Amino acid sequence: MDKLIVHGGTPIHGAITISGSKNASLPILAATLLTDEDCVIRRVPDVSDTNYMVQILTGLGADVERFSGTVRVTAADISDTAPYDIVRRMRASVCMMGPLLARKRRCVVALPGGCVIGDRPVDLHIRGLEALGATATIDGGNVVLEAPDGLRGATIDLCGTNGPTVLGTDNVMMAATLAEGITTITSAACEPEVVDLADFLNAMGAKITGAGTPVITIEGVSKLKGCVHNVIPDRIEAGTFMAAAALAGEGVTLRRVHEGHLAAITAVLRKAGHQVHFNDSGDACTVLRGDTPMPAEIVTEPYPGYPTDMQAQMTALFATTPGTSVVVDTIFPQRFMHCAELKRMGADIQVSDGKAVITGVKQLSAAPVMASDLRASAALVLAALTAKGTTEILRLYHIDRGYEHIDEKLLSLGANVERVRE
Ligand code: EPZ
Repeated sequence: MDKLIVHGGTPIHGAITISGSKNASLPILAATLLTDEDCVIRRVPDVSDTNYMVQILTGLGADVERFSGTVRVTAADISDTAPYDIVRRMRASVCMMGPLLARKRRCVVALPGGCVIGDRPVDLHIRGLEALGATATIDGGNVVLEAPDGLRGATIDLCGTNGPTVLGTDNVMMAATLAEGITTITSAACEPEVVDLADFLNAMGAKITGAGTPVITIEGVSKLKGCVHNVIPDRIEAGTFMAAAALAGEGVTLRRVHEGHLAAITAVLRKAGHQVHFNDSGDACTVLRGDTPMPAEIVTEPYPGYPTDMQAQMTALFATTPGTSVVVDTIFPQRFMHCAELKRMGADIQVSDGKAVITGVKQLSAAPVMASDLRASAALVLAALTAKGTTEILRLYHIDRGYEHIDEKLLSLGANVERVRE
């Protein structure tokens, strides 16, 4: 297990390139199971979650090759049961259900266990796949879905207590591509990663319209073919480095971003007094720390609202922003594990009922801190960049799940960090 040593107080500056999106790559890799032909996916980030997905595909019998950001998958002859020992390590494996059920008319996938960011049921996924004609049983910790006569199109509403579901929308959309007839998903998630998956499926020969809106229509086809696809940039990695630049930067440029996908994050940074400049084509931006940072309020919402995956990083920014800022997470109301660790560094944060009230302090002080999940660990790295002294961030494996070579990227921006064995 690695840890990250961060010597605080060194400003970051310069330019880096943003990697492909982890949250687009995962369902796209799962979607390769819908065909027996070659699929080539480029810009897949080298993070442990995509490695797990490659292992699951291999465990199912697919032939997989990976070389510098490109993954080629040929799922010619596959089993219908996803290997538990890998599935248990990554919740996103749940997006195997749709493609396996559609292709094999049966699938056995382990039910995801508990998650530190909060309650994460899969009832909407199962409800959606049942509406397409599958029967679902829970057996020995697995969900077993069966549709011996194939799937049939239906109208399905995917709104849950906390709004639409991203991977639930992906699962139903993937399954419906090979179903007989028309499927209409209402209250669909509108995230850019859902649109990227729909673009990939349409390149395979699917007939999907409306992705990116709350109503998606899928006309089923009898067979899908192989294709080549470039994954979209990772808007959460980009947002994380934008927050780092506002916190500790002297001008940081991010190449390969998508301005539209960053609108909500950009709005908050500008409101908090920082500068964000996009180039004419909107695929690169420069972030400059403001002279007079100001407090702000964030309420997380489904896309295009403010992303829950970016609330921890902003909390770290607000910890040393003069005044009182507020962060409300409506999607994962318990997602505040990072706050206890930030308080160990001297932050003044009150957490209750899905809300954090942050009163800015002059400077944080270094301390050994523990990463608890992917985005919480990113917040600790950001806080450590300006903290007084040397911070040790333990359990770095959490950050390696979704950030490609983050220590190397920080070093290239002049940060004083080093990865060492725990
Ligand atoms: C995706 O998770 C992302 N993961 C998460 O990013 C992200 O936080 C989340 O969407 C919300 O934006 C991937 O794309 C791999 P949801 P997902 O189903 O699809 C409730 C990261 O940091 N719900 O959209 O699993 C659920 O409890 C990760 O990269 C049900 O009630 O999230 C939550 O409150 C963390 N029943 C809300 O919906 C269901 O069947 C949204 O969850 C499914 C979800």
